[in-house]
Amino acid sequence: MATILAIETSCDETAVSIVKNRQVLSSIVSSQIELHKTYGGVVPELASRQHLEIINPCISQAMLAANLEWKNIDAIAATCTPGLVGALLVGMAAAKTLAMLYHKPFLGVHHLEGHIYASYLAQPKLEPPFLCLLVSGGHTSSIHVKDYGEYKLLGSTRDDAAGEAFDKVARLLDLGYPGGPIIDRLAQQGNAKAFKLPEGKISLPEGGYHPYDYSFSGMKTAVLRLVEKLAVAGEIPVADVAASFQDTVAKVLTKRSVKCALDHDLDTITIGGGVAANSGLRKHLQQAAEKHNLKVYFPPLKFCTDNAAMIGCAAAQHFNLGHTSSLNLEVRSRMAISQVMQLYQP
Ligand code: KG4
Ligand code: ZN
Repeated sequence: MATILAIETSCDETAVSIVKNRQVLSSIVSSQIELHKTYGGVVPELASRQHLEIINPCISQAMLAANLEWKNIDAIAATCTPGLVGALLVGMAAAKTLAMLYHKPFLGVHHLEGHIYASYLAQPKLEPPFLCLLVSGGHTSSIHVKDYGEYKLLGSTRDDAAGEAFDKVARLLDLGYPGGPIIDRLAQQGNAKAFKLPEGKISLPEGGYHPYDYSFSGMKTAVLRLVEKLAVAGEIPVADVAASFQDTVAKVLTKRSVKCALDHDLDTITIGGGVAANSGLRKHLQQAAEKHNLKVYFPPLKFCTDNAAMIGCAAAQHFNLGHTSSLNLEVRSRMAISQVMQLYQP
């Protein structure tokens, strides 16, 4: 049973958690949404400075909430990739310092592997293989979880991430930031069939369409044109636009994920990232799963959006398998999920 102190600072949440295998002993998340709201998106330099200011209080709070002493911690972990380099550096420097100070092993963790582990946290009996649909502000990926530490990317977005599309559509409707939850709320009062939007299919050179890849920028542009047209005609039915957009995104994500799972003989789909909170996506996936006899797991929202518990859970699994990282491990803005084992020493 590994007890891990984990740090997550890849974007705009400063998070520290203590996890014992799949059990969360404490989870502190300090969101920077208020700081970035005025700019309509994350400002990298401001994010790093804010992480630097509050990382130490977050570490103390996590230790206090778990009621543990340093001698009870087996290893220290931090997200090392992908993310904003300046932001990642703060968490990594803090984790390496703690590892050196208290003579603990250190583990770097891939942020997307962390999002996959949100499902393990919520479902203690979950075992690979399964398909994980990861939908956040920065990523839209269908990942085949073959085994612990063994991943294959089967589908991804060619342009905007799903959450990014929600944020951009909210901005053009003048609804505020982050757009996902606002659109989700408005969509409940709108007619999802009011407007037809393109599904963002990716053409293949040999003909036909890519079965598992996504494109959201065309959908966003179609909403822009629609809003321009409606504005000329008179008042914009915002709730109907929000509902139609949400329904199109949810249907596309569901259709391609279900096909991906069935084509790869996988009977379980898990979901992670901020957009996993979306009520339309949850409804469509649940219905499709029932129809095709698939199991589908939705982690609670607190583990869908960025947090350090998911990072600690991934680190605990690696630590139990004998994996640790070098203190020379560096942060990387990008890294394929299939390469996670490169983060650990042989
Ligand atoms: O996973 P996350 O917290 O951060 C990243 O790693 O990106 O995801 C944030 C994204 C934002 O784009 C936000 O608009 C979206 O998740 N989001 C939602 C909902 N809640 C958050 N999108 C649709 N419906 C929601 N209910
Ligand atoms: Zn994330």
